[in-house]
Amino acid sequence: MLVVEDSPLYSSDFFADGDPWAYLAGLRENNPVSVHRRADGYEFHALTRYDDVRAAYIDHESLSSSYGTMVDGSYRAERDSASGRMLIVADEPAHGAIKKPIKTGGFNRDMVARIGEAVRRNIRESFAGLSVGDRIDFTRDIAPGLPKGVLEILFGIGPADAASLLEATRTMIGYRDQAYTGVQPLDALVDAQLEVLDFMDDLLERRIASGEDDDLIGMLAQLVASGGMTRDVALLNGLNVAVGGNETTPHTASLTVDTIHREPAQWAKVVDGEVPVDVATAEFLRWTSTNSYVQRLAVRDFRVGDEVIPEGSFVTLWNMSANRDAAVFDRPDKFLVDRADNKQIAFGAGVHRCIGAPVATLEIQMFVEELAAWDKAFTVVAPPQRLRSNFMLGLTELEVEVVKAGDAGA
Ligand code: HEM
Repeated sequence: MLVVEDSPLYSSDFFADGDPWAYLAGLRENNPVSVHRRADGYEFHALTRYDDVRAAYIDHESLSSSYGTMVDGSYRAERDSASGRMLIVADEPAHGAIKKPIKTGGFNRDMVARIGEAVRRNIRESFAGLSVGDRIDFTRDIAPGLPKGVLEILFGIGPADAASLLEATRTMIGYRDQAYTGVQPLDALVDAQLEVLDFMDDLLERRIASGEDDDLIGMLAQLVASGGMTRDVALLNGLNVAVGGNETTPHTASLTVDTIHREPAQWAKVVDGEVPVDVATAEFLRWTSTNSYVQRLAVRDFRVGDEVIPEGSFVTLWNMSANRDAAVFDRPDKFLVDRADNKQIAFGAGVHRCIGAPVATLEIQMFVEELAAWDKAFTVVAPPQRLRSNFMLGLTELEVEVVKAGDAGA
């Protein structure tokens, strides 16, 4: 098995300045299972083929989430501090017991419909404020509006509170990138996490007092009040949903605008109504693969093809690589907006599959719909700045000019 010393997969700079797609394509082709070491001795196995990544997601009994799903993503090296209590870092049966009420209370059809209305309203408002000739940073001025609508509904808060909650959660994930923090990275992470938890605790308290249960936080509050969930678990999972929702779709939207700029002929098919927006959305999700990988710990030997990953090893499942696997996708390195039967795996698979997938898909789909129907368009006027993170693929700056529809393009 290939062992890479001082692997670039740990390097945030490589993901911002290098070509991780090409590096992963090489692994996928020649070394679908490989070991990646870091100077401090940390190592993980990397899975890069679609079928292997999917099989690893499904086998949650061999591969545990409770040791942290992001390299260095927790305060304690061996076990994540929220382990067993927060969805993303909990194993069965605790994970299922937490996920069920959150899914039915926070992500039911009615909630998703209400979220859709808020998201569409926010997109329309932000577009209405723009005139031909305006120059803006899309990542700062428009993209955060997408999860803002989600927060407003899930947490029953106003736009100003939703905006500050967004800011704090973005710092938590992008903490290695100075574009977000500007101070000592770990301090910024801790401060942001405390700020979000305090804010949630206050919301929870108010909902316990009022008895309202018509949104996610209200439903969690009533569970706490009735003894069905501890306050800690409610808070940690409110945080998990907020972080999961805030730090992903804005990056997907920014990369979508950049892709549209690079692929004018493909985009024209959406504007002309030749390609349904849901089909286009699936391809934007595959192409952007915002959450590049997730990590697991093998709690028993885990077989991948002819290789055996020994118990006790960290294993990383590379979504971004699986989404470019030629065994599953025709011409995987081409952005094909009308790609049929798109099996993109950007939201993972199995028991941990993204709880927010319907909401995220709706956000991107509405954004694409509104953009295609707009009488204006964005044209990228400066090289985009990529987020310095190996975990999230996104942009920290995307300078665009507003032009008349039809005048955009490379
Ligand atoms: C394009 C946008 C998004 C992408 C690419 C994405 C990706 C993912 C992936 C790959 C996982 C699986 C993690 C694992 O198996 O360890 C996940 C889980 C999760 N996501 Fe998302 N996500 C997105 C949007 C959202 C949104 C909008 C929300 C909430 C509103 C959200 C909340 C969560 C939560 C709470 C989990 C944990 C689920 C569990 O462990 O059972 N995500 N997401």
